[in-house]
Amino acid sequence: MGKGGKGSCEKRKQRQKAACVACTVVLVIVLIILIVLYVAVFRPRDPRVQVPTMQLLSLYPIGYPLPISTANLTLNLQVSIYNPNKGTFIVQDGGIACLYYNGAQVGFTPVPTGFIPAESFSTISIPLTVQGSAPLQGLYLQADIVDGILQVSTTVTIVGKVTTLNLFTHHADVVSKCNINVSFNSRGIQSYTCQHSFSIDP
Ligand SMILES: *[C@@H]1O[C@H](CO)[C@@H](O)[C@H](O)[C@H]1NC(C)=O
Ligand SMILES: *[C@@H]1O[C@H](CO)[C@@H](O)[C@H](O)[C@H]1NC(C)=O
Repeated sequence: MGKGGKGSCEKRKQRQKAACVACTVVLVIVLIILIVLYVAVFRPRDPRVQVPTMQLLSLYPIGYPLPISTANLTLNLQVSIYNPNKGTFIVQDGGIACLYYNGAQVGFTPVPTGFIPAESFSTISIPLTVQGSAPLQGLYLQADIVDGILQVSTTVTIVGKVTTLNLFTHHADVVSKCNINVSFNSRGIQSYTCQHSFSIDP
């Protein structure tokens, strides 16, 4: 009788052991499913940025092709951002748009803060002009005047973060660089090309 009691006790232990193993296996499977789901659905993705259009708001002086020695212009960049994530992308303080001429920064403006809902587009309008004490001038401008084309470039840096599942926060920097040719003759944007780069925390 004592033997039988001992045997059933061991059996119970074995059953407990089996249940424990089964429990662990189920837990591991659930964990793997959660990880796969997170990677597949909630993994943070790079926001996509484009400059689908831009406007030349003003170009000075008016008098081309009369002899001119200085120039000033105001551009309005339309920066379109797509947030592919399952969470809102927040455009934070610290983003900046810059205007360059001949490699030197001649103007800047902060990027307005805001947010882009999950899986949607938002367009930010960013005006840029020549700031400081003097408009564009010098030898480089003389060459541009001869060509009839004012070559400027811009960068837009967007600083933001996205939170998925209300749990995971990722910081992202998006940079868009454009080279822009402005025609003195037609007083308009002749052509432009843009490149984009991203960096998002894994
Ligand atoms: C260039 O033009 C803009 C817009 O008209 C003006 O606000 C700015 O002061 C000008 N810049 C210079 C250096 O004159
Ligand atoms: C601007 O014009 C210059 C000279 O005509 C050319 O080399 C350059 O590729 C043009 N850039 C763009 C963005 O069209």
